[in-house]
Amino acid sequence: MNRNIIVLDTTLRDGEQVPGAKLNVQQKVEFAQQLKRLQVDMIEAGFPASSEGDFQAVQEIARSVGDSVSITALARAVKSDIDAVYHSIKLAQNPFIHIVLGTSNIHVEKKFSRSKDAVLEMGVEAVKYAKTLLPQVQYSTEDASRSDFEYLWKTIEAVVKAGATIINVPDTVGYAVPEEFGELIRKLNERLKNLDDRVILSVHCHNDLGLATANTLSAIKNGAEKVECTINGLGERAGNTSLEEVVMALKVRENFYGCQTQIKTTELLKTSKLLTYLTGLDVQVNKAITGDNAFAHSSGIHQDGLLKDKQVYEIMSPEEVGGESMELILTARSGRHAFKNAVEKMGFAIGDTEDFERLFQKFLTLADSKKEVYDHDVFYLVTNHRAHD
Ligand code: KIV
Ligand code: ZN
Repeated sequence: MNRNIIVLDTTLRDGEQVPGAKLNVQQKVEFAQQLKRLQVDMIEAGFPASSEGDFQAVQEIARSVGDSVSITALARAVKSDIDAVYHSIKLAQNPFIHIVLGTSNIHVEKKFSRSKDAVLEMGVEAVKYAKTLLPQVQYSTEDASRSDFEYLWKTIEAVVKAGATIINVPDTVGYAVPEEFGELIRKLNERLKNLDDRVILSVHCHNDLGLATANTLSAIKNGAEKVECTINGLGERAGNTSLEEVVMALKVRENFYGCQTQIKTTELLKTSKLLTYLTGLDVQVNKAITGDNAFAHSSGIHQDGLLKDKQVYEIMSPEEVGGESMELILTARSGRHAFKNAVEKMGFAIGDTEDFERLFQKFLTLADSKKEVYDHDVFYLVTNHRAHD
């Protein structure tokens, strides 16, 4: 059975909460336009009650890309936040209000200092109010993964009865592990489908233990229909689920429970680079999919294998994510095969075996004295060798 997984990008809301990632209105619109080209299904454009600038940015995004992408923005369970969301997104074709309220004991006791029933009632009232403004309402049970299961379910049941159309289950502090999170989603999905099978079950993971992608995949396996992600995994603390990782995991492992997304993967790298350019926040070089080294091969054994057949060491091609063909980095560990390939790519004919061997030894001497050997080094090496040998 084929299942389409809905992708919501929250780079402009959860991602933008990161210190140093603040963007102006124009930059946010530029990024949202790129998200549209990437073909995300939904964009969470901001938190409009937080500032006038955020309100304006959400409004501009709704105007400029809301014709084809579903737009939402975040509200706490209070009328003024919900009003701000409604007024900022109402011009989009398919807008929905996103309400968040904690369900874990620690949130109920420490954040709200109210009884569990009183907090639940706040959530129900908020959903009822949001429903008077728009037909689609998402409810996030903040800190769901650390919540008492029966209270979590009681909340979900009540807000669905009040009209919530999407239930989002966040692992707010990145505490969950894949098996346990998958089991939580399986149990919630079973009950939710019995209650109202039109309600969409969504997940939102954080990466505090480096498990956001694994937890999201485990949730998909167990019935999640929608995933919330950010580009480059940007987000609070260690970040959110990285959109490019989940999308490519589903694509590369095409039999992953029959799930796929509508993301145009050839736009992934461009989107990542645009975010780096706009925020000035670099991506770690070994970051999966979007890091500078994600498709670079430097060991001789690997380079030799790749030159024989790319699939020997490549599970996806850089072209699939919008990059250029695989990059072989020449270092002292590169073998004859990779060096010969670099020389020939520059248009030099390889001489006889002995001549090539002398040239290769010069390359090794140079590579030993440098970390990496670039094209201009190879060019100099060959021309100098030709002139003197
Ligand atoms: O991490 C979280 O719980 C959130 C909610 C607003 C979904 O960002
Ligand atoms: Zn979050």
